[in-house]
Amino acid sequence: MTQPSPAIATSSIDERKRAAAIAAVAEIRDGMLVGLGTGSTAHFAVEALGQAVARGLDVRAVATSRQTATQAIALGIVLLKPAKVARIDLCIDGVDEIDPEFRAIKGAGGAMLREKIVAGMAARRIAIADDSKAVGHLGTHPVPAEVLPHAQAFVTRKLREIGCKAVLRLDGAGAPVLTDQDNIILDCHMAGPVDWAELAGHMDAIPGLMGHGLFLEEIDALFLGTAQGVERRERAR
Ligand code: 5RP
Repeated sequence: MTQPSPAIATSSIDERKRAAAIAAVAEIRDGMLVGLGTGSTAHFAVEALGQAVARGLDVRAVATSRQTATQAIALGIVLLKPAKVARIDLCIDGVDEIDPEFRAIKGAGGAMLREKIVAGMAARRIAIADDSKAVGHLGTHPVPAEVLPHAQAFVTRKLREIGCKAVLRLDGAGAPVLTDQDNIILDCHMAGPVDWAELAGHMDAIPGLMGHGLFLEEIDALFLGTAQGVERRERAR
């Protein structure tokens, strides 16, 4: 971990998110292929990358959601189709919470399946967040699962059998939230202490559960926006 830089002291949550995002984008070099996350913190990173591209940075990117793709295209960032990309250099994305072992819960924005695929492509993965996202122990948020609509009742039963109370995510009008793949989201609430690796393994094994928001190995560095500046933490491997 490095000390926060007092030169960019920040106060509001959005300023902290933006500072973390700008620090991560500063790692991007000419010629890189970059993964762009989803959410309000990732939005700041895409904005900063768009500005760097306007100044002449030569990069290409893959987006983790339609929302991010729309923003990136509007800023003139060249996007590749993820289906044609197997490896990227760097991925920058937000988290909902992250513990001291760099294990995170993601997916409040519903993009965790594509986010995990893009993280899997990346040689280096930087999580960006304001300091409210750093927790001592995971479990403040439910773990979101992207589920094939056809499998809703079955997956709900299988989740119950492994101790999760699965709640269908609804939008403001009471309709199921659909992912970019037109799947539903079940938010999995846990009671009592959780073995996160065991839970991830169980979820990975349920047919019809396409992906989930437990990112236990997919983060290499955390750039945390704090009131004192950006704190950079590297995962010990
Ligand atoms: C979307 C995500 C987001 O990265 C996560 O929800 C954090 O979002 P925000 O930066 O808006 O707090 O996982 O699927």
